[in-house]
Amino acid sequence: MKLLFASVLICLASCQNLSKNKNSTVDSKVTAKLSSFDLNKEIKNCEAQLNQAVPKLTDLSKHPRLIETNETEWKEISNGRLVWTSGFYPGILWYMYDLTKEEKWKAEAIKRTEVFEDFKTINEHHDIGFMMFPAYGNGYIFGDKKEYKDILLTSAESLASRFNPKVGTIRSWSNKMHPRWQQHITIIDNMLNLELLFWAAKNGGSKEFYDIAVKHAETTMENHFRPDYTSWHVIEYDSITGKVLNRHTKQGYADDSRWSRGQAWGIYGYTMVYRETGDKKFLEFAEKLTDKYLELLPEDYIPHWDFDVPNLENEERDASAAAIVASCLLELSTLVEDKMNQERYYNAAMRMMESLSSEQYSGVGKTDSFLVHSTGAKSLGHEIDVALIYADYYYIEALDRLQKMAHSK
Ligand code: GLY
Repeated sequence: MKLLFASVLICLASCQNLSKNKNSTVDSKVTAKLSSFDLNKEIKNCEAQLNQAVPKLTDLSKHPRLIETNETEWKEISNGRLVWTSGFYPGILWYMYDLTKEEKWKAEAIKRTEVFEDFKTINEHHDIGFMMFPAYGNGYIFGDKKEYKDILLTSAESLASRFNPKVGTIRSWSNKMHPRWQQHITIIDNMLNLELLFWAAKNGGSKEFYDIAVKHAETTMENHFRPDYTSWHVIEYDSITGKVLNRHTKQGYADDSRWSRGQAWGIYGYTMVYRETGDKKFLEFAEKLTDKYLELLPEDYIPHWDFDVPNLENEERDASAAAIVASCLLELSTLVEDKMNQERYYNAAMRMMESLSSEQYSGVGKTDSFLVHSTGAKSLGHEIDVALIYADYYYIEALDRLQKMAHSK
């Protein structure tokens, strides 16, 4: 497929500044094509969207979760202990602060972060990583909020308490909330929570956090993927023997179909695990997952919500999966050594960013969100063709990564 982008050659950044990991040792330079994507314009667009949305979001006990199809304003839901999306809104505000260095975004981010400190003890599910790291982790890293350290370390301890050494993974969900499964359930999304453990192990927490994260990634690599490098969503393990009992889905079209956001979590997860460990087997795996995902994409690089749903052409897209993958491919492009792959992953990411920022997928002029056309859980009958807060989160993370790449050029 031909590249759509203008062929201006630029040198891109070392990944030292790209990842949140300030200790990263990988320092590769890549040369790649710059797309017609206008980064500064897009940062301004997102800031304008936030300026429009933030004054309406006044209830500190809630967070914006979605904008329904054909509506314009965020639907807010409670910052509940069971609500996995609670941390993305403060996370977005921290990224906007990092992008602009405007104090007003820092003040807003602090206000929205510090309301759920007590979530650090969540041990009833695995989502504590998704909830605490975008909020407190970004605050620690970008806002210099050193006082968040203990909160993050306690959060890591809560997450680690769900690790079952007999299985070799963290237990994602409780069986009470997901009665289809009776034993130890691990979902592919769980890969993202490992970042909290890696961070904690490097920042004064137990070294065991590192070992748990690595073991989880290894076990998942072994059991969670088909021979074609696509991911199942849910694996049920025997809690005592660690044997795989079944492979199912919750949010995909069918148990054996390929749920696009699941693949996105896998790509992001293994890219991050390689950044944190330097173990080449994780890099090679991230590349295999990526190559398969790219092969399955439609022309505009925004996947349908599941790759195997019948009548695919008529099905909804999931811009959230595209934003997740765009962000992590920017990082992957700085981690791979081969120059051709550096360019290939960078160009693929830019193609996704170009589509996401286009009239078709941008919320500008339509809604209070950065992006539209995401699908949360069509198989469960909700969040179909909507704006989603986590789509916006990974999109602004990608903008932040691009800005860092441009600055260290
Ligand atoms: N982690 C939940 C989801 O991707 O919908």
